[in-house]
Amino acid sequence: MSGCFISIEGMDGAGKTSVMSTLVQWISTQGHQVITTREPGGTPLAESLRELLLAPREECVDEDTELLLMVAARTQHVKTHIQPSLAAGQWVVSDRFFDASFAYQGGGRGMSNDRIATLHQWAIGDFAPDLTLLLDLPVALGKARVAGRGEEETRFELEKMAFFERVRIAYLARAASERHRIVIIDATQSPEAVQADVVRALQTHFARAVSELGQ
Ligand code: TMP
Repeated sequence: MSGCFISIEGMDGAGKTSVMSTLVQWISTQGHQVITTREPGGTPLAESLRELLLAPREECVDEDTELLLMVAARTQHVKTHIQPSLAAGQWVVSDRFFDASFAYQGGGRGMSNDRIATLHQWAIGDFAPDLTLLLDLPVALGKARVAGRGEEETRFELEKMAFFERVRIAYLARAASERHRIVIIDATQSPEAVQADVVRALQTHFARAVSELGQ
């Protein structure tokens, strides 16, 4: 039996890393093998594309070029890592997946959702996560949390506040149109409350999946 695919989305500072550990713990206690991965990245080639995409540069990066590189990395990741792992029965948890393209390239850069969807259909067909957790929080709070880490800023993090406001709106719009798959988690809560919401989402989603299988 093939494994399940879960993605975690949200802006930097939303707490994706600790949610990742909660997921791994929960999945392991259900008796499944689980691997974690990330986007852009997850394979040696896709990690090289990540470096190209995230490095700040003088040259203006065309939005189509940015999207094509994101989708090239994703295609390699899906076909050579995610799908084979799922077929081997492992569960896969990814720090970001295609909803990030609808949020950052769609919302942030203003590209049309149809263009993004068409490209994905061409590259990976109907492949999608079984469940996506969207960690939502106000942009200013996420920024403040990241500032405390003292990490070097990527090309995306150098964008203005208005860019991230559009990213947040696009994520929420996507969640509203994909309610069967995307669960919004209030990331302003305490880590314990976030963890409890994550576990509840897993129980609800996978209990439903099991009962649907039995019908
Ligand atoms: P992070 O995963 O370390 O946060 O960095 C990845 C950055 O890439 C983040 O700023 C969001 C951005 N991104 C996109 O713009 N589109 C995508 O499809 C993905 C996966 C990430």
